[in-house]
Amino acid sequence: MKKFKRFLVTSALPYANGPVHIGHLAGVYIPSDIYVRYLRLRNKDVVWVCGSDEHGVPITLKAKKENKHPQEIVDQYHNIIKKSFEDFGISFDIYSRTSSKTHYETASEIFKTIYDKNGFIEKTTEQYYDSEAKQFLADRYITGTCPHCSYENAYGDQCEKCGTSLNATELINPKSAISGAKPELKETKHWFLPLDTYEPFLKKWILEDHKEWKPNVYGQCKSWIDQGLQPRAVSRDLDWGVPLPIENAEGKVLYVWFDAPIGYISATKELTNDWEKYWKDKETKMVHFIGKDNIVFHCIIFPAMLKAEGSYILPENVPANEFLNLEGDKISTSRNWAVWLHEYLNEFKEKQDVLRYVLTANAPETKDNDFTWKDFQARNNNELVAVLGNFINRTVVLTNKYFEGIVPERNNIDENDKEVLNQISLLKEKVEFSIENYRFREALKEAMNLARIGNKYLAETEPWKIFKTDIERVKTILNISLEITAALSVILEPFLPFTSVKIRNLLNIKKIDWDILGTKDLLFKDHKINTASLLFEKIEDEDIEFQINKLLNTKKYNLEDKKHEAVKESISFEDFQKLDIRTAKILEAEKVAKTKKLLKLLLDTGVDKRTVVSGIAEFFNPEEIIGKQVSVLLNLEPRKIKGIESQGMILMAEDNEGKLHFVKPSEDINVGAFIK
Ligand code: MF3
Ligand code: ZN
Repeated sequence: MKKFKRFLVTSALPYANGPVHIGHLAGVYIPSDIYVRYLRLRNKDVVWVCGSDEHGVPITLKAKKENKHPQEIVDQYHNIIKKSFEDFGISFDIYSRTSSKTHYETASEIFKTIYDKNGFIEKTTEQYYDSEAKQFLADRYITGTCPHCSYENAYGDQCEKCGTSLNATELINPKSAISGAKPELKETKHWFLPLDTYEPFLKKWILEDHKEWKPNVYGQCKSWIDQGLQPRAVSRDLDWGVPLPIENAEGKVLYVWFDAPIGYISATKELTNDWEKYWKDKETKMVHFIGKDNIVFHCIIFPAMLKAEGSYILPENVPANEFLNLEGDKISTSRNWAVWLHEYLNEFKEKQDVLRYVLTANAPETKDNDFTWKDFQARNNNELVAVLGNFINRTVVLTNKYFEGIVPERNNIDENDKEVLNQISLLKEKVEFSIENYRFREALKEAMNLARIGNKYLAETEPWKIFKTDIERVKTILNISLEITAALSVILEPFLPFTSVKIRNLLNIKKIDWDILGTKDLLFKDHKINTASLLFEKIEDEDIEFQINKLLNTKKYNLEDKKHEAVKESISFEDFQKLDIRTAKILEAEKVAKTKKLLKLLLDTGVDKRTVVSGIAEFFNPEEIIGKQVSVLLNLEPRKIKGIESQGMILMAEDNEGKLHFVKPSEDINVGAFIK
């Protein structure tokens, strides 16, 4: 295998249109963090870049939905995402963003270089257009049926079901994502990257020279190339993005999949003046970590762009993962079917490593996988607590108890002792091999085997039983157990960085280089360790039930189809002032006969006493609400409901579970007060 001088690792730039969830972590960021931490422990020259993807339709659609400017959206989510990564120990060398000045310059330069070499085809074609919204519809602005797999919600640039990259005009039954209307065709000019001319190069480079790529990655590339490559537009008619850096291209910006991967380059530039050696020297090994929906962009389009530009290296590997599901269902931001990282940390304080552990042990490396809370609990309790935590705790406690925390000397060692010590270098090699081949689940399993071996060693040698009779033997046993503990602090560091720090604190040692493992002793006689404290704690059933209930509620809520709706159309202040909303008090309440939902209320509104019929019977008993303060819309046209005239409406807030709550002043005040 080729030897490389340095490494450049990239992780897919997440769209800054929402927070990050466990699917992101499991698919991309944890595997790349393991890989990079491992390389750093080996003192390799490595640079790891990432950042927010802030252009493209996912951003403008979200902005539209929330009635905000795209800039506001990306500012908000860039910071949330960045913080989540920091909190989970995702140790990028830089987390940048594609709205940065350096990025605009870099993306423009690369476009310009290719343009000046006549690397694009300029073509006027018919594109879908929404005449209501007065906008061209490309990418996620348009949905329809995938011509390859018949999935009904394919996007204009890609089918997420089968992974195929599409042109909007290929969709069957296209629909505008803005208005839902059937779009019309309208002429517009764009610049195309002629992927067809790169076909021979891609064929050789991937299909012949990179047979070692993961089967899912290689397979997707092959099927794409076999279908024949088409020229692909790299510009868009949008007002959000990097403007085309050429004359006569007003209103055109770079296609987000043209600018975003260049974000890797911009981020490297921002990180170091020496960026060119990482991007242009053949002795750099570049690895892209991505999810499976990004394969064609990283294996076909971006390499074709770099090839067209001419001075850049290509990736050595693109270890894409499959998807992580959650409790049997596809993770979905819009359906809120996710475990959000910021929420997890609120609910499981300081348990980052538990999630890192579970997501690695169960990573979707070769097929889609399922995250379940029961599995999360079982792995924590049976593996982290019962094996790793237990072994280290016993070792530290016994050393303190018998030897006042001083590392005892190693006396005569028997075959078993030797075998156990030998495992350090054996397992180290296995972990190396697995990590270097992007098999992180397997790597973690091997690393944990060292803890299993330690645990078994203590259970078999039972030093607590022979302390009185054979103290010399106990010294040896604890010396070896401490040695394994120190080795665990190294071998687990890529996977469980927070735990690794804690182990080093327990042992009172500094960070140890990977390459030293198994070559010499890590701890010396007479070194003093610290007193014990637990590394992991049991996760109780009630914590898991809480999480499962939260998801069940989401499901219920989704089933009732009460999704968070887009902000309603703007109204004027004058419109608002027409509403006469006031505080009132409930004087009487009774159920309306033969209905499930209705209560008949008599209200003291401050100006009169009036009857209001309200659909709150499922949530309140009539007796309970008499005397309560409410808010009432007084000037709503009276309406007959079940034969009763309702003269107004009380205001209620509906929570995520569909439950209603009174809207009222923070403290009870007089009736008839204006709400304005
Ligand atoms: N934002 C894209 C996604 O979430 C990934 C972009 S990766 C990059 O699918 F290479 F383009 F940066
Ligand atoms: Zn499809």
